Amino acid sequence: MAEDRWVEVDCYITDLLVPQDAALDAALAQSEADGLPQINVAPNQGKLLHLLARIQGARRILELGTLGGYSTIWLARALPEGGRLITLEVSSRHAEVARRNIARAGVEDRVELRLGPAADALPKLESEGQGPFDFVFIDADKANIPLYFHWALRLTRPGSLIVVDNVVRNGDVIDAQSEDLNVLGVRRFLEILAAERRVSATAIQTVGSKGYDGFLLALVGQGGDAAPSRNPLRQ
Ligand code: SAH
Ligand code: DHB
Ligand code: MG
Repeated sequence: MAEDRWVEVDCYITDLLVPQDAALDAALAQSEADGLPQINVAPNQGKLLHLLARIQGARRILELGTLGGYSTIWLARALPEGGRLITLEVSSRHAEVARRNIARAGVEDRVELRLGPAADALPKLESEGQGPFDFVFIDADKANIPLYFHWALRLTRPGSLIVVDNVVRNGDVIDAQSEDLNVLGVRRFLEILAAERRVSATAIQTVGSKGYDGFLLALVGQGGDAAPSRNPLRQ
């Protein structure tokens, strides 16, 4: 019941605030027609990523997990003239759909899609001297988030923003007994983050057309947060 409401509210917000965009709509329709999983960000989440990249003044963006290129297009459209986005995707089937969607959206000049496991692409980006990236969106396989975050830190600069999708997973993130590799990946990542002095971070739960999940934002800087002496939510 609650979930119907979440979807209705997402629709309402999207109708009013997320303009119809033929290329973004076509990207979703084509992805569905080609049988890709519908695990792209929601339209209002895509616009959030777009706004964050603009707030950031991002000129160089790195994305892990392209799927059909839906979030890629949202992010590419936040780039100023001369900006560049590199997106990493392991599935050739997904990449093929994404390339067409990216071209249809007219952003192929600024988007480079690299096919292969992100774990291979990331050290290569570093050795090529790519970056620093101003904005990194981590949205590939969840078990490897700790590894991806490690590389995101190497490929960014103080002031860069790292956004991680799917950090709540229906609330499963609090299950310390979980054997789900996705949940374990997120939990390990959060533990690393808690001890990482180079970033200031928070996570926000989200509900909507994509269910119950969450985004994490980590601002790279000199010196992370002081360890909280008291959590006001714990009595
Ligand atoms: N960012 C997309 C959704 C990505 S879904 C959007 O919101 O529109 C996750 C994607 O990560 C899938 O396409 C999957 O094939 C890809 N993926 C999974 N494991 C990967 C890996 N090891 N390296 C790169 N991409 C990976
Ligand atoms: C999955 C991946 C995602 O990036 C997402 O947003 C939702 C689900 C998945 O692999 O199931
Ligand atoms: Mg995701």
